[in-house]
Amino acid sequence: MSKKNKTRICIIGMPGSGKSTIGSILSEKLKYRFIDLDNEIEINTGLKIKEIFKDMGEDSFRKIETDTLNKLIHKDRIVISTGGGTIIKNEEILKKSYNILLNCKLNELIKRASRNKNRPLLSSNIESKMKDLFNERKELYNKIADLKIEASTNITETIADILSSLENDYK
Ligand code: S3P
Repeated sequence: MSKKNKTRICIIGMPGSGKSTIGSILSEKLKYRFIDLDNEIEINTGLKIKEIFKDMGEDSFRKIETDTLNKLIHKDRIVISTGGGTIIKNEEILKKSYNILLNCKLNELIKRASRNKNRPLLSSNIESKMKDLFNERKELYNKIADLKIEASTNITETIADILSSLENDYK
C-alpha cells in the first residue's frame, strides 16, 4: 500500500497499453485536470513527436520530455498520461507522483501498435521491437509503479479496477 499523495497521478506503461484513453477517463471520474504528455510536448514545440525524433533525435526528445514533465509534476488534482519511455530518464521526478502501471499482454500491445503509424520507435518490425522495449523496460515500470492494473481487455473494467484500488488504498 502506497502512502503517496494520490492527487497527482501519472499513468505509465508500454506504448499501446491505453495510457491516454484510460488517463483521460480517469481524470473525468476524479474531476482532475488531464494532460497527455506527448500532446503537451506537441503543443509546446509546435512539432509532432515523429518530427522531433526525425529532426532532432531521441536524446533531444527525452530532454524535452523531462522539461515538460518537470513543469507539470508540481500541480495538484492532475492525471498525466506519460509516454511509454518517460520512465527511462525520469525515475526521480516520478517519485513525486502516484504512478499507475497499465499492464497489457505483449500480443495485444503488438496488435494495437500495428494499427498506429505515429510511433517512431515502432515504425517497422513492430513485433521484435515491442518485445525488446518490453524486456528493456519491464523492471523499471514495476519499480516505479505504486499501483499495477491489468489493462489487456475492457476499458470500463480497467477504470473500475483503478477506482476501487484507489479507494481501498485510502482506507
Ligand atoms: C515512446 C512512446 C510514445 C512517445 C514516443 C516514445 C517510447 O508514447 O512518447 O514515441 O519510448 O515508448 P506512447 O507510449 O503513448 O506511444
